[in-house]
Amino acid sequence: MPYGLPNMSFIGYPLAVPCRGHSGLGLRQVTRADTDAVVEHFLALDPVDRWMRFCATLNPEAIRRHVEGLWDRDGVILAACDGPLFAGPLHKAGPIRALAELLIVGEEAELGISVDPSLRRRGIGTYLLQTGASLLEPRGIRTIRATTMPDNSSFIGMAHALDGTVNYTPDLVEVSFDVATLAAAYRRRRAAEMLRFAGSYPQGA
Ligand SMILES: CC(C)(COP(=O)(O)OP(=O)(O)OC[C@H]1O[C@@H](n2cnc3c(N)ncnc32)[C@H](O)[C@@H]1OP(=O)(O)O)[C@@H](O)C(=O)NCCC(=O)NCCS
Repeated sequence: MPYGLPNMSFIGYPLAVPCRGHSGLGLRQVTRADTDAVVEHFLALDPVDRWMRFCATLNPEAIRRHVEGLWDRDGVILAACDGPLFAGPLHKAGPIRALAELLIVGEEAELGISVDPSLRRRGIGTYLLQTGASLLEPRGIRTIRATTMPDNSSFIGMAHALDGTVNYTPDLVEVSFDVATLAAAYRRRRAAEMLRFAGSYPQGA
């Protein structure tokens, strides 16, 4: 069931996800209160994924410093939660299964993105990026940039699939995405979801 604001939408996919008996991940923006859950998400990535994500070998302390530094930056940080979207008096939110950092630098945003290995190739990375673009577009951001390693076939594949521009340098790959293209894809997808949802209501009285 799709619901909510652009920054609190729903990714439905037909898969029994780990931990909780529900049919999809909830997507929302994260804040300083989510620091521990974001750190846990990064620590659950294996060393190769962490290398691809950060282009560096970060130990747990460095990961925590990275996360604690996020909240003072301008931008949009989106998480896909497997379980309750928000913490309550008797439960924690999450856990976080995917995260997209879109940090604003001048008139552009820098992307860092990661999806739990068990949930890849289900469109979650794409949906996070498209949703982030739809939130950045009204702020005048036109381009999203990312850097990764030349052997990162998953992210380079994703960049090609989303019409990104991929530039190889000897040590790194630089990718840029057009925000308007991603945001338009987000709107098409949301419109299709809303129509499907409307069609699932019983007609008549
Ligand atoms: C890159 C990453 C975020 C992709 O997340 P994802 O949720 O699996 O991506 P999607 O399901 O949205 O994939 C979209 C498209 O990208 C391409 N793609 C994704 N993974 C791919 C792979 N392993 N090989 C080739 N193409 C791939 C495909 O075209 C895919 O569409 P398809 O599944 O319909 O063929 C994920 O692999 C990841 O977390 N990697 C480790 C961290 C990292 O490298 N981050 C990027 C640098 S910041």
